[in-house]
Amino acid sequence: MKEIEWSNLSFGYIPTDYNVRITYRDGQWGELGVCEGEYINLHMAATCLHYGQEAFEGLKAFRGRDGKIRIFRLDENAKRLQASSRGIMMAELPVDRFEEAVLKVVKLNERFVPPYESGASLYIRPLLIGMGAQVGVKPADEYLFLIFVTPVGPYFKEGFKPTPVCITRQYDRAAPQGTGTIKVGGNYAASLVAGAKAREGGYNAALYLDPKEKKYIDECGPANFFAIRDNTYITPVSNSILPSITNKSLMRLAEDMGLKVERRPIPVEELATFEEAAECGTAAVIAPLSHIDDLDENKTYRFSENGKPGPVCEKLYNKLRAIQYGDEPDTYGWITIVE
Ligand code: PLP
Ligand code: COI
Repeated sequence: MKEIEWSNLSFGYIPTDYNVRITYRDGQWGELGVCEGEYINLHMAATCLHYGQEAFEGLKAFRGRDGKIRIFRLDENAKRLQASSRGIMMAELPVDRFEEAVLKVVKLNERFVPPYESGASLYIRPLLIGMGAQVGVKPADEYLFLIFVTPVGPYFKEGFKPTPVCITRQYDRAAPQGTGTIKVGGNYAASLVAGAKAREGGYNAALYLDPKEKKYIDECGPANFFAIRDNTYITPVSNSILPSITNKSLMRLAEDMGLKVERRPIPVEELATFEEAAECGTAAVIAPLSHIDDLDENKTYRFSENGKPGPVCEKLYNKLRAIQYGDEPDTYGWITIVE
């Protein structure tokens, strides 16, 4: 293989050796298969193509100083894929089958797990798609679950450095009672225009408001939102955002660091009161916000004057990374070691 510059990786696709696949047919999940090819042979009337019957996941494997490979919160991703499957009427893959597949694909591609010192990781992308042919709007009777992996660096090229986002009122990524809480491709298709416009304006992502009233903060393009004020970690409750596993983990860490945790609707105006604000997610890790521009209201909310992350974001980031890379003990049972 071409030499990979581990410390210089972006969040892009690099081919690896194998992907793994499981097919659902006749009401049953089949055996786990190992595949070298990067393509899928698909019926032209497959429901994933026409009616968006597809969901995906994102998790990471990290190589520790001890050389061991650790996967973060595997079971949570398995359960979220099940929730996504229920949301768009796809067959549910049992949690143990998901876990078996993740462990297998990481082991098979072990040589692509970046070295400890690089700060990079192996991104794991499980995908579930409706394969059966339908013309009427109905769920498929056949599904393909597959996982590929690819080594990645930071999602936002600045990494752990404050960057700006802009509030968007013109676009929603999901409807009030829609699919925002599950990880289905349609939400991401719906976010492409807003994301491209935000980047054109020099922002790293669009910050969505609640789609019903446009009064409350929802989430950033590919990540949840949280803020810090008065020793309190504040993050939105909303029925149009994805329940982030990173956010859930950070709430736990924040509490254990002595912060209060508040999950509640966050009115836009409250942004003016926050000491720190950030995006969080598997790909984004913690991406601190320098400021948020509200272009419609001609307002800017600033969180970092000196180009540095705030102290609480920094502490949370260091703690989370230490657990993921095995520098600190896994007291929460979040880590699965690949044997
Ligand atoms: N919100 C959206 C829309 C996402 O795509 C992601 C990424 O998975 C997240 C939040 C963060 O979720 P997690 O921390 O589980 O990766
Ligand atoms: C993740 O954080 O895993 C994501 O899925 C975000 C994005 C790449 C869609």
